[in-house]
Amino acid sequence: MDKIIIIDFGGQYCHLIARRIRDLGVFSEICPYDIQLKNLKAKSPKGIILSGGPNSVYEKGSPHLSDEFYNYISQEQVPVLGICYGFHLIIHHLNGKIESHTLKEYGKTEIKIIKSEGLFEGLDRTEIVWMSHGDQVKEMPEGFEKLASSETCPIVAYRNDQKLLYGVQFHPEVSHTQKGPQILENFISNIVHAEKEWELKNWIENSINIIYKKIGSHDRAILGLSGGVDSSVAAVLLHKAIGERLHCIFVNNGVLRKNEAFEVQKTFQDELGFQNFHYVDAEEEFLQSLQGIEDPEEKRKIIGHKFIEIFENKTIELEKKYPSIKFLVQGTIYPDRVETAATSKTAAKIKSHHNLTLPEDMKLKVLEPLKDLYKDEVRKIGLKLGLPEEIVHRHPFPGPGLAVRIVGTINKERLEILREADAILIEEIRKEGIYREIWQAFCVFLPLKTVGIMGDYRTYEYLCAMRIVESQDAMTANFAKLDWDFLERVSTRIINEVKSINRVVYDISNKPPATIEFE
Ligand code: XMP
Repeated sequence: MDKIIIIDFGGQYCHLIARRIRDLGVFSEICPYDIQLKNLKAKSPKGIILSGGPNSVYEKGSPHLSDEFYNYISQEQVPVLGICYGFHLIIHHLNGKIESHTLKEYGKTEIKIIKSEGLFEGLDRTEIVWMSHGDQVKEMPEGFEKLASSETCPIVAYRNDQKLLYGVQFHPEVSHTQKGPQILENFISNIVHAEKEWELKNWIENSINIIYKKIGSHDRAILGLSGGVDSSVAAVLLHKAIGERLHCIFVNNGVLRKNEAFEVQKTFQDELGFQNFHYVDAEEEFLQSLQGIEDPEEKRKIIGHKFIEIFENKTIELEKKYPSIKFLVQGTIYPDRVETAATSKTAAKIKSHHNLTLPEDMKLKVLEPLKDLYKDEVRKIGLKLGLPEEIVHRHPFPGPGLAVRIVGTINKERLEILREADAILIEEIRKEGIYREIWQAFCVFLPLKTVGIMGDYRTYEYLCAMRIVESQDAMTANFAKLDWDFLERVSTRIINEVKSINRVVYDISNKPPATIEFE
């Protein structure tokens, strides 16, 4: 299958470029800029895109590509498209001139197109693009032809058809660049001539075959099913491949939402006909180990370790009964594996988020059938495989569950209060028809009592916060500016229907500086 490799220089849009290329039907992958040439060659890229990045090419210590890289693309005739930093990098390598400019360009910018052909086929004389740069190409080496300019930037795009080198100063992958998809399409079709073979339907058939071949006709696999999108899709895929030889372990950790354990069980066992769905009720055990714990990181650690312990014990029990259990399936997806240079510097250092991986001494062979997919691709596959909409489009839910939505210590009473309030919020959000537009919506229990008045009585009850955010990837998020009447309706229902809550507040903080979760 033809493949486009994105070389990552720390640009924040690396994953976006890869997703856009896949949306156009060509498989794409991200590689770090310092990838060894032999590893890059092994991937046989049909075309290469150099990403943007925060550095200036003339700065000491800025990331560059080796001479061998340039020799390779020239020998193998691999077309290269440089975006922003990548656009400068090509010129700099060939001894052109890049300089910082006093007038920086950020945001939507009008450009004038000089040549509407090849990379710019189908573009008008003027176009709106998304810029984000301080440096400019001042002088191009011989053989390069200018394709566009803006008011403050004389060279906005170039081509060198002989060397198959192309570049744009702006970001075609960002939706504000109106003809961005057309430009990327032109690159893959007119320049790279890549075959469009990346299709999810083929992917499903292929991967079911691959899974079947790997596991064979006798061995069994286990999978930790949380009911989240990734593990659910992995489960359905495996079930299609090996049927009852798939063993799903679902652990009730005591910090799930209202009816969650029941619903996951109903979906997989009753509706999807999973024969080996193992429900482990560990509620008491989890709550006991969380007793008196206030520190959120401590809560995360306890829940993570307890989960592994319980999962391992259940696996050992199953292995005794089914010695042919040889595989462990995990719902890892592409962004879990590939941290781009931009995200790796800052991401996940703020909280110990990542779902814990299981210990190696389990001696099982690990299968990660979704490891090359993006979340939206996983969702599409889930739907094609017949998973219900509610699972496929579920809001993300943190591994430590309601434990990080109860500020302070956790107990059954608090969990009960939070579950009821949260269920009302989600029910109203669904009724309003806005569930899909929202990234996450949930209630938070605050261990504070405030005064209220209900009927003729003064009350002294708990405070509940509602957190509803819009986001693309959880790296940044904005609180949802919802209709007051809607918020009033939810607040009234919570106060009337949930015992022990007499006040509801709406969180109007964005991320950053606030995080999505309260803990
Ligand atoms: P924050 O609160 O850092 O959250 O803005 C970003 C995204 O990560 C989720 N989150 C977690 N997910 N384990 C998880 O699996 C965790 O410990 C955890 N903490 C936060 C959060 O729900 C949001 O989607």
